[in-house]
Amino acid sequence: MDFLSLQFSRRLLTLASFVPEGASFVDVGTDHAYIPIYLAMNSKTSRLIATDVAKGPIESAKQNILQYHLEDMISIRFGNGLAPIQPGEVDTVLIAGMGGHTAVEILSAAPTVVKFVQKLIIQPMNASHLVRQFLDQNGFYLQDECVIEEDGRFYEIIVANRSGVAESYAEARDTAYENFRLNPDTLQFAYEFGPLLLERPTFSFIAMMKHTRDKWQKLQTDIARSNSTRAAIREAVLTRQIQLLNIWLDDAEERLADK
Ligand SMILES: C[S@@+](CC[C@H](N)C(=O)[O-])C[C@H]1O[C@@H](n2cnc3c(N)ncnc32)[C@H](O)[C@@H]1O
Repeated sequence: MDFLSLQFSRRLLTLASFVPEGASFVDVGTDHAYIPIYLAMNSKTSRLIATDVAKGPIESAKQNILQYHLEDMISIRFGNGLAPIQPGEVDTVLIAGMGGHTAVEILSAAPTVVKFVQKLIIQPMNASHLVRQFLDQNGFYLQDECVIEEDGRFYEIIVANRSGVAESYAEARDTAYENFRLNPDTLQFAYEFGPLLLERPTFSFIAMMKHTRDKWQKLQTDIARSNSTRAAIREAVLTRQIQLLNIWLDDAEERLADK
């Protein structure tokens, strides 16, 4: 391992591990450009682009790229989301360290670029259900999902590949959700936590679910104080999701204890 990779967090190393050899790759919202730098030093990608919407991060990316003499290997571009990318220029997109809502906004705003994308690696800081729903409804299927626990935080990583042919993107649905499409509640639960993670729970994932349960229970108490109809609907949805979570947690803990 070289000097730079020793400074890499497990989160960044895991994200980089999902980028295939030979990929034409863009890191959207690169900030320090650590991932493109790591890939330039450690893998054989055919194209590396780092973008950011803010001037400070672009400067910091430039400095780091110059420091490692990688300016011929990594192209830095300033701009919002995928706007600095031409259709067909990249087949692999990383969006990490932003909210799920922003990640979906970036993908939705660039259909001509996304049309050519074969792999999406997304690490949302929140609202991961929006990311999974977008993928499921836009012709991607889940390749992998994991939870990294670092510095007292949980980071979800979602990796998805393009399915089928362009004409059927809108109709294609990920079979990973097959057991969850029984009703809207179970599908929402799977969008929330990830069908692959729910099938193959890890200790980090279970810890993340318990953390979410605590958050949801607190939210439920807060909502219950309001008398509005909207609050009553929200509370009913939340109550059902907490019920599903508790049933699933009991089962998963039993399964892990049997191993
Ligand atoms: C918390 S940093 C994450 C940096 C890096 N991706 C990581 O995971 O360590 C978020 C970065 O995304 C950039 N960003 C936020 N919204 C963006 C957008 N719509 N398009 C491009 N970059 C964006 C910010 O300027 C910031 O540099």
